Amino acid sequence: MSSWPSRKLAGLPTIALARSTFFLKRNIAHINHGGVGATPRKINDARHRYQILLEKMGGRFVEDELFPRLRNATIALAKFIGQDGDGLVFMPSATEAIGTVISNIPVISGRQIIISEFSYPSVKEIVSAKASVSGAHVFEIKHDFCQGSVLLERSDVLINKYRQALEKATAFVVIDHMCSRTGAVAPLATLVRLCHERGVPVLVDGAAAPGAIPIDLKTVVPEFYVGTAYKWLFAPKGSAFLWTAPEWRDRIRPLILNKAPDIGFQESFARMGSCDRAQFLVIPDAIDVWKRLGGETLYNWNRQMVAAASEMLSCWWGSRSWSNDTPLGPMNLIELPEYYNGVDRASLQKKLYYDCGVDTRILSLKGKNWVRISAQIYNTPSDYRKLARCMCVRGQLSRS
Ligand SMILES: Cc1ncc(COP(=O)(O)O)c(C=O)c1O
Repeated sequence: MSSWPSRKLAGLPTIALARSTFFLKRNIAHINHGGVGATPRKINDARHRYQILLEKMGGRFVEDELFPRLRNATIALAKFIGQDGDGLVFMPSATEAIGTVISNIPVISGRQIIISEFSYPSVKEIVSAKASVSGAHVFEIKHDFCQGSVLLERSDVLINKYRQALEKATAFVVIDHMCSRTGAVAPLATLVRLCHERGVPVLVDGAAAPGAIPIDLKTVVPEFYVGTAYKWLFAPKGSAFLWTAPEWRDRIRPLILNKAPDIGFQESFARMGSCDRAQFLVIPDAIDVWKRLGGETLYNWNRQMVAAASEMLSCWWGSRSWSNDTPLGPMNLIELPEYYNGVDRASLQKKLYYDCGVDTRILSLKGKNWVRISAQIYNTPSDYRKLARCMCVRGQLSRS
């Protein structure tokens, strides 16, 4: 039986300090951190200061301040994921980063592109568009699980599915590092090795991973890794990135080409349009706040919170939680009580927020409605109890 982890024993800040770090509304249980994350007040202020500096200095800010500071931020973020700065470029969203990679990968007609049944919807769209223009087809890895008190997906079974799929000629594979639907963490090292044994390039969709689970791209080196700093790393919205392995850097170009064609991999992304880039400049500060709020201790603490909350919710509701046998991340999926099956997911989610004061994610998967919960430094067990109680008020929330 999992128990709630102690903030004090883990050496984490008090709940008062943790809450005052963010803008989050006090009367809401915020258990949807995997959505858009939460930006600390301090980071938001720092971003605003750069925006003001740009207004004060105009073009000189771009030449004298922006590029050197972007370089510092690049190095700080690359270090965070275990790489040097030369392969990392900033992007406004994970979707755009993934679209950029996929539009640049050559695909021979007749080959397959492997994704997961639970890949992010926009990623599925991009892959399917690529397949249709190049005459390839999409192969989806299906996720199933044995029945029990938890819905357990065994990693050896999952790995075997990839092994079998890779027997056919494959153009590239997209792997979710942490799945946005289930919260499951992929056995990444093994999957990347399997692909490389067959000479197949790997694009890791790590949009949900940085700051949520450890990333070490020194040990596991895919061809492409896409991540965000705005979800779990406390940077402002619009801060995503793409890391590219050296052998691919001269083949990856932005979706919109800029006026100087031969400026190289990093410059071609850094000089894309005259848009606001202040969100990238504060990434080193955001990493600093992440460290001061617990840093790597948060991996474990969030995971324990989610495990305890999952057990409590499934026990209250007589339902089951999703799990796999790789370590859990800071999100998990729990079946809603049966009487919520068939209820419109979007309106349920809205009612939970406005009528019950719970911000969480409701998903429809495999013919059932589920709730995806998360844990972050500002959560307490009372947030999950609030959700448990609301959903137990049978009828009230299931009325459409
Ligand atoms: C696994 C995964 N991929 C892609 C995305 C899309 O990210 P963005 O909104 O930055 O494009 C998300 C967002 O939640 C995600 O969790």
